[in-house]
Amino acid sequence: MRFSLSTLSLATLAIFSSPINAAPHAVDELSWDKAYTKARALVDQMTLDQKVGMVTGVGWSAKNCVGNTYPIHDPYFPSLCLQDGPLGIRFSDNTTAGVAGITAAASFDKDLIYKRGQYMGEESYGKGVNFQLGPSVDIYRSPYAGRGWEGFGEDPYLQGVAGSLTAKGIQSQGVIATGKHYILNNQELNRTSSSSHADERALHEIYVWPYARMVEAGIGSMMCSYNRVDGDYACENDHTINQILKGELGFKGLIMSDWSAHHSTVKSALAGLDMSMPGDITFESGTSWWGSNLTQAVKDGQIPEDRVTDMSVRIAAAWYKMRQDEGFPKSTLESFHRNEAPEVVVSDDHAKIVREIGAASVVLLKNEDNILPLNQDISHLAIIGSDAGPNLDGMNSCPDRGCDKGTLAVGWGSGSVDFPYLVTPKEGIEARVDDSVEVSYTGDDYDIDAVSELAKDADVAIVFSNADSGEQYITVDGNEGDRRNLTLWGNGDNLIQAVADSNENTIVVIHAVGPVLMPWIDHPNIKAVVWPGLPGQESGNSLADVLFGDVNPSGRLPYSIAKKEEDYNVRISPDDEINYLEGLHVGYKHFDAQGIEPLFEFGFGLSYTTFEYSNLKVDGDKDRVTATISIRNTGEVDGAEVAQLYLGFPESANEPPKLLRGFEKVFLKAGKQEKVQFELSKTDLSIWQEGEWIVPQGEYKIYVGASSRDIRQSATLSL
Ligand code: NOJ
Repeated sequence: MRFSLSTLSLATLAIFSSPINAAPHAVDELSWDKAYTKARALVDQMTLDQKVGMVTGVGWSAKNCVGNTYPIHDPYFPSLCLQDGPLGIRFSDNTTAGVAGITAAASFDKDLIYKRGQYMGEESYGKGVNFQLGPSVDIYRSPYAGRGWEGFGEDPYLQGVAGSLTAKGIQSQGVIATGKHYILNNQELNRTSSSSHADERALHEIYVWPYARMVEAGIGSMMCSYNRVDGDYACENDHTINQILKGELGFKGLIMSDWSAHHSTVKSALAGLDMSMPGDITFESGTSWWGSNLTQAVKDGQIPEDRVTDMSVRIAAAWYKMRQDEGFPKSTLESFHRNEAPEVVVSDDHAKIVREIGAASVVLLKNEDNILPLNQDISHLAIIGSDAGPNLDGMNSCPDRGCDKGTLAVGWGSGSVDFPYLVTPKEGIEARVDDSVEVSYTGDDYDIDAVSELAKDADVAIVFSNADSGEQYITVDGNEGDRRNLTLWGNGDNLIQAVADSNENTIVVIHAVGPVLMPWIDHPNIKAVVWPGLPGQESGNSLADVLFGDVNPSGRLPYSIAKKEEDYNVRISPDDEINYLEGLHVGYKHFDAQGIEPLFEFGFGLSYTTFEYSNLKVDGDKDRVTATISIRNTGEVDGAEVAQLYLGFPESANEPPKLLRGFEKVFLKAGKQEKVQFELSKTDLSIWQEGEWIVPQGEYKIYVGASSRDIRQSATLSL
């Protein structure tokens, strides 16, 4: 019997495509010392060419992952698979599309943030991804920044905690986490040509801070960014890589270039770059700054061979540290050539964590007359807005989610993933109400008459709108990654106004990458404003959990929402020289220092219950400060509070008025009280001055409260 070629490949496909369930896997990371011993022993056996192969990518789309290195045969070292991104596995199937970084941050829940990292690591492991290209800890310096949603918000302390927990979670599964984008990469406009300038103090205290915390957590790799820093490309910047990252921070892992952020053979190698990604100078050019050019530069004496050895040792050490030498799965991703690999199912029950963290991240901004949670007497509910419904072209119809159709659940760009499914808010709500409730819906955001008509007859009208942004290589509705403005998309303000004019029980739900303007906020008929951020595939379910009171909201804003655009101090710079003139005054620190009242401050979020703070006690010295406080749930329902500690430095330190230095989410049954403890390390008490971290002498203020402006107790301490 003879097979035609097409029958054969179909038959082969059928064998391969029966799904394989990946086994869960957890590892005890090796110490860096042990990993280095193994790595040195391996790399010592390698020729220069082999070492160069390890540090050079094979080129964009040449293999199956967004980045791959060359395999080495004798001694054996595999081709490594590097894959996006910060919220899950890009270009994949049978994986999970969870909440975005910004939404994870809004949970202010350390345990859930870790679990999110852990399930992402488990999925990457199952798919044979050696490096997950996340977390992103780019500071949300300006609310217009297109990729702010990939990271954890405007505050470095929050970024540091969330970044290191995410990295730990990923690495607990034997996958190398990659902190990015190092550094001063805070806007999309001119991202490959502009040069960022921050003073050393802001550089250390704001931008390097989260990297320092990830290094302490043992992260295996970092990615240097597209932009320049003080004139030099970030991937050939001796000061930020050699001096700060590898010197001051003592980073033992490797630093890879962002994709085509590599611009030289010698300068980058000497500045400390360890891996060229994806390896070709421009995508699919067939040329490389490294590869044979690196070999030649070593032979010519321009780069000591030790430097290339060090690059390889760092890569091998990260690999050994995560025990990837112990039977790591072969990569089965098919980023560029689909449907040729076996389907490996790694999603397991991760949807549960997504739903849980999604609900725990919902920020309740307004709740008049306790309209929420929705009670049982509703007989007619109106759901209004395309943001409550599906993308009618298909949930994955726009590459890398580069459009704003239907409900918004992630931003666009390399930091997004394909949805396995997407529970829309409409579906989530419908699943939660019984048959006695009439639910009417319109997804036409522009037919204001029809919207008003529909809203008028309902007991409660829930109106949805959104605001999107993403990465520079995709332009959506004139937004080249960065946001052109902070207004809602798709006629949102008119839609909300029309619904509120027609229904006195209006609830507004906004899915947004970051802050938006809310000209309608004081409308007396707008009883509630709900802020689920970017909740991923379980969007409708996690929202319904909060709307119907199965989950008491406990999300908090990881950024400041201003009353008006002019209140923000940082815009997207059109210039090639981007001066970080605001220094330390990023986000709420600017609002506090200037005495500007925001609409909703950093750390803000309501609950269906109330909490009382008492008995703050503070003690310590220059090495460590401990603060304890009692919190009681004084309301009728169980719920979680996010207790936040802000530090006021002595005046001589010249810091903004308050800096976040601790947060704890505590779940309290109605009426119950618990003691919460904060530990501040020497680092938490330090400022960067004249080239070193010092603990300034003088009187410190310790503020503990429910947000950056809702301080319930304070104390002073002389150090
Ligand atoms: C460019 C993005 O800046 C980076 O975050 C991503 O990991 C790479 N592309 C690979 O897709």
